[in-house]
Amino acid sequence: MIDFRPFYQQIATSPLSDWLETLPLQLKEWEKQAHGDYGKWSKIVDFLPDLQAEIIDLKNAVKSDRTFPLSEGEKQRIIHHLKQLMPWRKGPYHLFGIHIDCEWRSDFKWQRVLPHLAPLKDRTILDVGCGSGYHMWRMLGEGAQMVVGIDPTELFLCQFEAVRKLLNNDRRVNLIPLGIEQMQPLAAFDTVFSMGVLYHRKSPLDHLTQLKSQLKKGGELVLETLVVEGDAHTVLVPTDRYAKMKNVYFIPSVEALISWLEKVGFNNVRCVDIAPTTLEEQRKTDWLENESLIDFLDPNDHSRTIEGYQAPTRAVILANK
Ligand SMILES: C[S@@+](CC[C@H](N)C(=O)[O-])C[C@H]1O[C@@H](n2cnc3c(N)ncnc32)[C@H](O)[C@@H]1O
Repeated sequence: MIDFRPFYQQIATSPLSDWLETLPLQLKEWEKQAHGDYGKWSKIVDFLPDLQAEIIDLKNAVKSDRTFPLSEGEKQRIIHHLKQLMPWRKGPYHLFGIHIDCEWRSDFKWQRVLPHLAPLKDRTILDVGCGSGYHMWRMLGEGAQMVVGIDPTELFLCQFEAVRKLLNNDRRVNLIPLGIEQMQPLAAFDTVFSMGVLYHRKSPLDHLTQLKSQLKKGGELVLETLVVEGDAHTVLVPTDRYAKMKNVYFIPSVEALISWLEKVGFNNVRCVDIAPTTLEEQRKTDWLENESLIDFLDPNDHSRTIEGYQAPTRAVILANK
């Protein structure tokens, strides 16, 4: 099982120390009711060898390697373990010559987001809905002091720990398996990211308020989410599924989203990027069995989802507390 004690020790002397009032107890409770396969997945992390990387690149990719390459047999053994943690959605990872070619080219999103951010160097960062943690490693690559991800999906926690093990067990990045709504307001982070989460929340204004409660005064929010075309009064509430996803609740226009952020008290709200999701960014690979974007679009008109809604387009919005 994954041991969170090193994280508690690490935050005890940091601006996150107040979190120790609630987190250890919450994680004890979480462990009792974690996903039935959590024990199996966490054992796979234990089975991975302790390899020492001589080369780590988090600035241009998420990559580790050593000068003396792994034997083909060692490589295949590691691939076998990692494939038991499928589906791998967010990546890619390049670890000791193994390319985990995930469904999403998360590096594309990072390229859209990064140029607009306040420099991440020395910052304490929260990544809400961090998935397997791809962007957290890239934040570290930009010189962040500490990165904490929060994501309730146990499989992603185990993928994160597997990747961490193959990145010299770096402890400056940590993933806590809770939902943002369970997190005590800390007002302690310099930057809070929420990417790909807002449309999954039943109450988007509450989500924005929770994000604000984690930021220091003056800190930066990085919000990335699905948007639709339209004016300040346009919000798509899918009647059933959106792009075959059943947990999509609110997709606002950029103008509506900006007004929501202002309503909950953010300043300096601005949209810095809008981009349609392409078939190069989200596609089927050998690292997932499931369907991917091509199956979620109208086969005769890729500007529409299979349900007839606007095809996925995502915006990046920045704001300050
Ligand atoms: C579409 S993925 C986005 C992953 C990554 N942030 C990215 O942009 O590529 C949404 C993530 O939000 C997580 N999530 C769902 N509900 C959440 C909640 N209440 N709090 C935090 N994360 C949540 C899911 O487990 C999933 O990993």
